[in-house]
Amino acid sequence: MSAPADADLATRKSRIASDFDRVARGYDRLNALNPGYSKHLRWSAERLGLEAEARILDLCCGTGLSTAALRAVYPEAELTGMDASAGMLVQARQKPGLQSVAWLQGDAMDPAAAGAAGPYDGILMAYGIRNVPDPDLCLRRVGALLAAGGVLCLHEYSVAGSSRARLIWRGVTSGVVIPLGFAVTGTTSIFRYLQRSVLEFDSVDELEGRLRKAGFIDVRTEPMDGWQRGVVHSFIGRKQS
Ligand SMILES: C[S@@+](CC[C@H](N)C(=O)[O-])C[C@H]1O[C@@H](n2cnc3c(N)ncnc32)[C@H](O)[C@@H]1O
Repeated sequence: MSAPADADLATRKSRIASDFDRVARGYDRLNALNPGYSKHLRWSAERLGLEAEARILDLCCGTGLSTAALRAVYPEAELTGMDASAGMLVQARQKPGLQSVAWLQGDAMDPAAAGAAGPYDGILMAYGIRNVPDPDLCLRRVGALLAAGGVLCLHEYSVAGSSRARLIWRGVTSGVVIPLGFAVTGTTSIFRYLQRSVLEFDSVDELEGRLRKAGFIDVRTEPMDGWQRGVVHSFIGRKQS
C-alpha cells in the first residue's frame, strides 16, 4: 500500500457524508438490484440475538435499509438510527415502517457526542466500520455505549484474507456495481471508492482482532450466502457482563 494511496483514501473517509448525500436518492433502487442485500441485513439483525423489547442503535443507518432489517426482526424494539449524511437520513425518515425510529445525524467516530444515549442492548453497524478514519477508537466508543452483556454486530465486507473473495469482489464491482451505479446515480466516484476501500480493508482475522482489542468477548464471524459468501460477513462481539 503506497503512502499517497493511503492519504487519498483517508481524505475520502473525511468527506464521506457529502459523497453519500450525492447518491442518496438512488441508493435504495441500486440495492434493490443486489440479490440478498436486505436478507443478509436481517441475518445480521437476527445474529444480535436480542430480546423483543431491546434498545438498539443502528450506526451508519444510511437510508434505513439496515434499520428496516432491525424492525423486521425486532418489531417491538426501541430503535435509534444515526448517520452522518443528511441526504441519506432524508430517505430514511420517509420510510413508512420506520416512523417510530429516533433519527440522529452525527459522526460514528463519536456517537455519544451526537446524542446517542446508551446503554444499548445491541448495536448494528452495517457497512460503516470500513468508512471511519479510526476503527479502533470507534469500536472503543461504541463499546462504551453498550450495556453490560450487550452485543455489537459489524455487517461488513472483508476480502483481504482470501484470493477467491478478492477475485469475486473485483469482478462484481468492475462488471456490475460501478456501471450500474453510474446508470442509477450518474457518478462512479463513490463506487470506485467502495471497490478500493474494501480491497484495502481488514481481513476477517484482523477485524476480529480489532474487536478483541477493543474489549469485546465471544467474538465470532458468520457467513452470508450467494455471491456474498466469503465476501460479506457478520462480525459479532459481546461486552463483558
Ligand atoms: C453503505 S451505507 C450503509 C447504510 C445502511 N447501513 C445499509 O446497510 O444500507 C454507509 C453509510 O455510512 C455512513 N457513514 C460513513 N461514515 C460515517 C461516519 N463517520 N459517521 C456516520 N455515518 C457514516 C454514510 O453516510 C452511509 O449512509
